[in-house]
Amino acid sequence: MSDQMLSFRVNGGSYQAAAHPAERLVDVLRYQLGFTGVKEGCGTGQCGACTVLLDGRPVNSCLTFAGDAVGHEITTIEGLAEGGELHPLQQAFIQHGAVQCGFCTPGMLLAAKALLDENPGPTEEEIRRGLTGNLCRCTGYRKIIDAIQAVAGLPASRAARPPRATRRSRR
Ligand code: FES
Ligand code: FES
Repeated sequence: MSDQMLSFRVNGGSYQAAAHPAERLVDVLRYQLGFTGVKEGCGTGQCGACTVLLDGRPVNSCLTFAGDAVGHEITTIEGLAEGGELHPLQQAFIQHGAVQCGFCTPGMLLAAKALLDENPGPTEEEIRRGLTGNLCRCTGYRKIIDAIQAVAGLPASRAARPPRATRRSRR
């Protein structure tokens, strides 16, 4: 079957792409619509780097057919900041040193947003469970969890500590 003109709603905007409905959503978003904040790691649904929100729920865009996203609201990392202001989760990730190479970060932030939208006051266990589909090879997860807990207003184990770079600069 040949490509069709598919209509998408992404980050509140309307887009069209000529694509086969069975094409992967990650490819349409990245290579046709230019949302390169969507990352592809494993391509097999295991790492979560390609996470986007579909009607507010996290999905692996490497496993989602483009045709299945038609008629739904897609949120990518490009849609998280509002009015030039970083989302509180983005600010917290920076503040807590939860971004290192950054490859997992878009997916991690979107998974965290979905988690807090559904459960604004999660326990650490619930945060860990909410992020089970998102792998990070750099941070060891502690800083990511601290950042999410800080946004949730919870007394994270290290939430009160300044990032390491700040501590070093005060010596
Ligand atoms: S790239 Fe989609 S889950 Fe890894
Ligand atoms: S910051 Fe590098 S994979 Fe998470």
